[in-house]
Amino acid sequence: MVSIVKKIWIVLLLFLVSCTNKQNVKNELIIYTPYPQSFIQPVVQEFEQSTGQRVHIIHDSTRKLISGIEDTDKKKRGHVFVGGSLSELEDSNKIIEGEIHPFILMPSVFIINKDLIGNIQVDSYSDLKQHSLYKNFSYPNPTLTNTGFQHLHALKELYGDEGANHILDLGVRLEKTAEIIEHVISGRSYVGLTYEFTAMDYIDKGYPLKIVYPSDGTIINTDGIVKIDGPGHPKSEKFIAYLRSKSIQTHLSNTFHIKSARQDVPFKPYKVLKPLSDINVIQKGFRDES
Ligand code: G6P
Repeated sequence: MVSIVKKIWIVLLLFLVSCTNKQNVKNELIIYTPYPQSFIQPVVQEFEQSTGQRVHIIHDSTRKLISGIEDTDKKKRGHVFVGGSLSELEDSNKIIEGEIHPFILMPSVFIINKDLIGNIQVDSYSDLKQHSLYKNFSYPNPTLTNTGFQHLHALKELYGDEGANHILDLGVRLEKTAEIIEHVISGRSYVGLTYEFTAMDYIDKGYPLKIVYPSDGTIINTDGIVKIDGPGHPKSEKFIAYLRSKSIQTHLSNTFHIKSARQDVPFKPYKVLKPLSDINVIQKGFRDES
C-alpha cells in the first residue's frame, strides 16, 4: 500500500516538474545573435540574474540568422535580434518590428600572424594583391556573414565591383567568421579579414597577432538591436533598454574594449586599438543622441 502511494507521489512530482519546465520554456525571451558566446553570454546572464527572466540564445552567422527568421512562421519566431550591422538589418525590414537601435560600433579589420608575415607589408586592401599573399589570406563568405559582407562593401566602395571581386578571388573564402581567426593562428592564412572585437580577444589570449585598420579605408559597422516581428515578449523592451543603458555600455567598453554607440560613453584607449579619429573611415558609425 505504502509503495503505491509513493509511486503516485513520484508521478505527480514528475508531472509538476515537467509543467514548470514547459512554463519556463514558454516564457523564455529568445534572442538571435552572431556574437561569440564569450561576449554575449556574460551580458545575458547579468540580465537574467537581475530580472529573473530566462533568455535563450540562438547563435549563427548574421545573414543565416536573418534568412532563418524570414523563413519562420511569424508565430514561431523569437523576440530580439542583437548584432549585425544597421544597414544589414535595414535591408531585412520584413522581420523587424519598430525602430532599429544602435548598439555598438565595430570596425572591420585585418588580423595578421606576426610569426608568418615576415617582411610582407600589409597595411591596406590593395596590399592583398601582392603575389606573396596569393591564397594566403582568408575572408568570410559575404552571403552568409556580416563580416564578409562589410569587407566586400568596403572593397566595392574603394575599387568598384570588379576590383572588389578580383581582390577576393585571390584569397580563400571560409563559411564562418570564426574560422578566419582559426586559419590565421594555425598558420593556414597569414592574413584574415575579420572584426575588431574578435581580433583583440585573441591578442589578449596571447597569440602572436597584429591588427591592421586598412589604410585605404575602414568600414565602421553600427551593430543594431531590434525587435522581431513575431509573437512578441513582454520583456523585449526591457532587454533592449538594458543593453543600451549607460551602465551596460560602460561595462562593455571597460571589459571588452568595445566602442559604444552612446555619445556619453567615450572610447577608452586599450593596447593597439585605435580610436575612430585615428582610422581612415569609409563609412562612419551612427551614435545615439542620448
Ligand atoms: C560584425 C558585426 C557584428 C557581428 C560580427 C560577426 O563585426 O559588426 O555584429 O557580431 O560581425 O557576425 P558574422 O555574421 O560575421 O558571424
